[in-house]
Amino acid sequence: MKKPDYHILVCNSFRIAGDAQGACNKKGATNLLQYLTEEAADRGLDVAVSCTACLNVCSQGPVIVVHPNNYWYGGVESEAVIDEILDALEEGELCEKYSIAD
Ligand code: FES
Repeated sequence: MKKPDYHILVCNSFRIAGDAQGACNKKGATNLLQYLTEEAADRGLDVAVSCTACLNVCSQGPVIVVHPNNYWYGGVESEAVIDEILDALEEGELCEKYSIAD
């Protein structure tokens, strides 16, 4: 298989015990998955999107991480935020406005 250019992790707060009850999930991270996947494809970005367990920065959620760049974003609460992040990614750049890590 061909590896995707980017792998975007979307925290959905999954717990070992089962229920997704953490901060990112409660703030609506699940609702953004389809938009993120479709919008990336519409832009011609070769992206795989995966849901993850808690990434341990709950207070800044919803959190996503873009690899291989290792860009960590918080406050990803709307389609508009995803648009800004993907705008930057198309340029190969960090979207500093939502960056939560150095
Ligand atoms: S629940 Fe998303 S970072 Fe903890």
